[in-house]
Amino acid sequence: MRAPIAIALDVPTLLQATTYTQQLAGHVAMIKVGLQSYLRDGNPGTLQIKENLQGAELFLDLKLHDIPQTVAGAVKSIKQLNPDVLTVHAVGGSEMLKAAVETAGDIDIAAVTILTSLTQSDVSVFSDHQIADLVQRLAESAVNAGCRAIVCSPHEVKQVRAVVGDQIRLIVPGVRMPADAADDQRRIATPAQTVAAGADILVMGRSILGSSTPIEQIAKVVQSIEAR
Ligand code: C5P
Repeated sequence: MRAPIAIALDVPTLLQATTYTQQLAGHVAMIKVGLQSYLRDGNPGTLQIKENLQGAELFLDLKLHDIPQTVAGAVKSIKQLNPDVLTVHAVGGSEMLKAAVETAGDIDIAAVTILTSLTQSDVSVFSDHQIADLVQRLAESAVNAGCRAIVCSPHEVKQVRAVVGDQIRLIVPGVRMPADAADDQRRIATPAQTVAAGADILVMGRSILGSSTPIEQIAKVVQSIEAR
């Protein structure tokens, strides 16, 4: 049984990213290639990761955000990689989201709502709304545009699940075991709390890769979910 985890490969070299993939991909649902890896290693490096997935899904976390035509062009550029999931920012607007979805074909477009590192005071710079309210509205607009997954913090999972139904995958970063450091994440919760709220996939980077025994750390996360 694969753990419902996307491993965030935010590491300094392609060699490390590939080694972690070889070691961990058989144990988890997804391997996440983000900006650090993709901008360094490009399509060739990402294809190398892809060759080592052992059945895990490839989650390409590029958080695209631009005018609709530019985002459509960007999605076209990464189509040859054929990731299972690709992220865009939901605040890019419904036309941008639709352009991404129409160009993506079989790739699931996941809309990132409000980053898990932001607090209400960060958000107050551009909106008078509460984070939970904004996340819900962004999630609704993304699903209406055809997005098949939503990225939100553990704090909003329950509310988002209630409005998007069971068919939309909820992918949730900001997940920490009770003993872990929060690092730069702000709206966080434990794996058990996050799954109980309705998450499908937990995005975990530092709290697994920072351990000298990452496979044991994954097993601990699974145990904590099952023990809830
Ligand atoms: O190390 P950590 O578990 O905090 O990694 C979380 C990962 O999830 C990072 O790769 C980050 O880019 C990503 N992410 C996030 N918040 C979002 C969307 C993605 O932290 N809203």
